[in-house]
Amino acid sequence: MNLIEYIEARREDHLNELKEFLRIPSVSTKSENKPDIEKAARWVADKLRAAGMEKVEITPTKMHPLVYGESLHAPGKPTVLFYGHYDVQPAEPLELWTSPAFEPTVRGGNLFGRGTADDKGQVHIHLKALEALQKTAGKLPINVKVMVEGEEEVGSESLWDFVVQNRDRLKADALIVSDTSMLARGVPSITYGLRGLNYYEIEITGPVQDLHSGVFGGAVPNPLTILAELIAKLHDKNFRVVIPGFYNDVATVSRAERKALNSLPWKEKDFRKTVGAPALCGEKGFTIIEQLWIRPTFELNGIWGGYMDEGAKTVIPSKAHAKFSTRLVPNQDPAKIAKLVERHIRKLLPKSVKCDFKVLSTGKPWAAPYTHPIFQKAIHALEHGFGKKAVFIREGGSIPFVTQMHDTFKVPCVLLGFGLPDENAHAPDEHIALENYFGGIKSVALFYESLATP
Ligand code: BES
Ligand code: MN
Ligand code: MN
Repeated sequence: MNLIEYIEARREDHLNELKEFLRIPSVSTKSENKPDIEKAARWVADKLRAAGMEKVEITPTKMHPLVYGESLHAPGKPTVLFYGHYDVQPAEPLELWTSPAFEPTVRGGNLFGRGTADDKGQVHIHLKALEALQKTAGKLPINVKVMVEGEEEVGSESLWDFVVQNRDRLKADALIVSDTSMLARGVPSITYGLRGLNYYEIEITGPVQDLHSGVFGGAVPNPLTILAELIAKLHDKNFRVVIPGFYNDVATVSRAERKALNSLPWKEKDFRKTVGAPALCGEKGFTIIEQLWIRPTFELNGIWGGYMDEGAKTVIPSKAHAKFSTRLVPNQDPAKIAKLVERHIRKLLPKSVKCDFKVLSTGKPWAAPYTHPIFQKAIHALEHGFGKKAVFIREGGSIPFVTQMHDTFKVPCVLLGFGLPDENAHAPDEHIALENYFGGIKSVALFYESLATP
């Protein structure tokens, strides 16, 4: 039986096995899910062994375990390092799911459940592709190292320690990642650029305690009002970020590249539909694709304080809070941007309040040429596996680890994405299109197989 026949014959088995993986609520941010995190790590380790990987290890870290395995029996052939994550985002708000988040369900050609697209479904694609190669050829045609972490959704803190400690062991000719999306349905894609991400939290304090807004209102600072004014001042009417120096290091993208990105088979109509807002808004002078992929942003992610319960309460809160983030593009330096943001915020705030400013995490942007021959092999495998033309795209999301790996190992990073932009990653009703899950297994198997021939 050849490779493709083997994979085709096992569609049901593959799907059932993925459902098993998805039933483990491996939410990395919640301590109550620690046992599930450990269960998911063991599950991945078992499947790595089933795919013929050796020296499979579950390494404990300061936070969540990391799973590693390798198969190095193809002397003279390339070595790839695959990276993915088994942890998922919390499923809340639970009531907005059509079927429960951790009870995977097929509806209308899609598999629904937390982690289907981000990233368990995509990790499973690689596990099954490797297994198919192993079972049909008796051994893997190339050397493979697999590293699956459990902290991606909370910042991958332990991952880098592991990489540094295992630097020689992790050496490879290419890094392979599947944790991104396709441009659109029927358009298999390779991502060559991601935005970076700085995440911040501030606490504004005015009065030492909550005050009666009648007795005190009019003569004292209201931290909530001050915070709202502050946030409102950070954009101008053209949706440019008004933080001095913010755009200074932004790499200019060549005319040719902008033209290529803007000519991709991407439909504004679909994007508008996915967003569902009455109208769109974004930085003037750039197309939507450019706003999403090559321009930095400032986004407010949460703002709270004061009275938020039923009915009215006349109060001037002592404190106001906000969480916000900046998406970064080459060549912005996250540390430098964090300083600019803090300095500007402190400058804008009146003397009547105190501000506690925290940077919760930072991550570098990434964009790299796709001239290495491995990219043509990847395109070819995607086109074969999906029977559709494949394209090179950039994306607005962040995987800071890719930049770290690229900087450190100086190897090509091949990002094969099998999610879709409207599959609700991080949101209720997350799903993956079955055609992309099955097409993914075929493509990845063909890709790995093709690396064995020059
Ligand atoms: N898989 C995503 C990253 C992603 C999504 C890349 C869509 C490209 C397109 C990843 O799991 C994620 O959610 N990353 C976070 C940042 C991370 C440091 C927590 C993000 O992009 O917000
Ligand atoms: Mn992910
Ligand atoms: Mn994610």
